[in-house]
Amino acid sequence: MLKTHHGIELTTDNAKVVDLYEKALNHVQRYEGGAGAKIKEMLTEQPDFWAGHLLFGSVLATATEARFMPKIRKIVEQVSANREKLNERERGHLAALDAFGQGNWRDAAFHWGQVLTDHPHDTLALHVAHQVDFMTGDDYNLMNRAARVLPEWNEDIPNYANLLGMYAFGLEENNFFSKAEDFGRLCCALDPRDAWGHHAVGHVLEMEARFDEGISWYEGRQPDWADDSELSVHNWWHLALYYVEREDFAGALSLFDQQVSVEEPDYVLRLMDATALLWRLHLRGIDCGDRWTSLGERWASKVAVEGGFYAFNDFHAMLALMMAERWQDFNQLSDQISAQAKQPTTLGAMAREVSMPLLKAVEAYGRNKCQEAVSILDRVKPLVYRFGGSEAQRDAVDQLHIGAALKGGLSGAALALTHERTLKKEESPLAWRFAGEAYKLMGDAEAANKADKQAALLLA
Ligand SMILES: [Fe+2]
Repeated sequence: MLKTHHGIELTTDNAKVVDLYEKALNHVQRYEGGAGAKIKEMLTEQPDFWAGHLLFGSVLATATEARFMPKIRKIVEQVSANREKLNERERGHLAALDAFGQGNWRDAAFHWGQVLTDHPHDTLALHVAHQVDFMTGDDYNLMNRAARVLPEWNEDIPNYANLLGMYAFGLEENNFFSKAEDFGRLCCALDPRDAWGHHAVGHVLEMEARFDEGISWYEGRQPDWADDSELSVHNWWHLALYYVEREDFAGALSLFDQQVSVEEPDYVLRLMDATALLWRLHLRGIDCGDRWTSLGERWASKVAVEGGFYAFNDFHAMLALMMAERWQDFNQLSDQISAQAKQPTTLGAMAREVSMPLLKAVEAYGRNKCQEAVSILDRVKPLVYRFGGSEAQRDAVDQLHIGAALKGGLSGAALALTHERTLKKEESPLAWRFAGEAYKLMGDAEAANKADKQAALLLA
């Protein structure tokens, strides 16, 4: 039994393996590339290093792709067969990964949380549980899981900055923007390579519509978050959102083409960011050329394996397939979501409660049945957080709601929804543009003009 520099006991006597485990985990926590190579080297050095297999399974889990689930279950099977060789903490990880592999993601987060109660410096448990909180829309734990261990840490403990980044993001998703920004900036000051900390500050600037500051934040620190980072595409996406808010649509499209719509490696997370950006541009009436066609093709190639797996991914697949008018693929996706909805798991509940209604709403929008789309969204929107993602990402659903009301000429609904937005984000030109459109539908030219003037003032 050897200990990591966090004091975590690993069931191995091979110091090189421990060193590789720590290096891999350090890459994972900072979202740097290179973790996979270190994991491979570690498991080649000691093929029966079961804690290393659990690390590998946890990294695969955070990718949120169905194609990795058989490997996760295989790891669980192999490690379970050697259960007596694990220490108690490692058995906690095994229980968590087992639950995850069965689609019980909330149970998985519970088990990782149990590990943290006894081992507050277990950085793997912290990292993966934080990600699962994010994936299940558990904002309470997204913030408080980090809070429960933070006083047990200090600046001298490696990866302290990464923990601050997690806490910052949790605070931001719970609307404690000022405190989130302080923790996020401190994280980046202590570890300029922490992509999650950059991301947390980026979210604060997004939620407060501080788009010029957002552009400066990302552009001024680009090498730190963009180079060799697993989170780079997502952070480019955040930068593009400020361009959309700034009404620099050519700039946003350029970022789409050069940084966001990355085809290799074709991770679902990246496809989602590409879809989410194009969706916002579509709703602003921007001609996106044949980009929907190629995005639709990319999603269609994934439906057979990924369709119906995770509701948050599926929502973006629906948007792209609808926009590309790939209705046959859309129907296949619908069948797979229906099958998932029958499962008594976290993933099944998400499919049942969120994906099924959203599927009908997106189809109704695509087939110009906008009244139907708006009615469905009226009912499902309070539940949408259950499929995870951030507030900024779930804004794609809010914008679908507004977009459907505007497209269908439903002036009352459009105005009511834009009132929500202008009160929540009064510094957002986009909010005022939507309000202007709604007033135009109402036939209130004076109010429409006033809303557009407010947008122009914020852009000046
Ligand atoms: Fe984000």
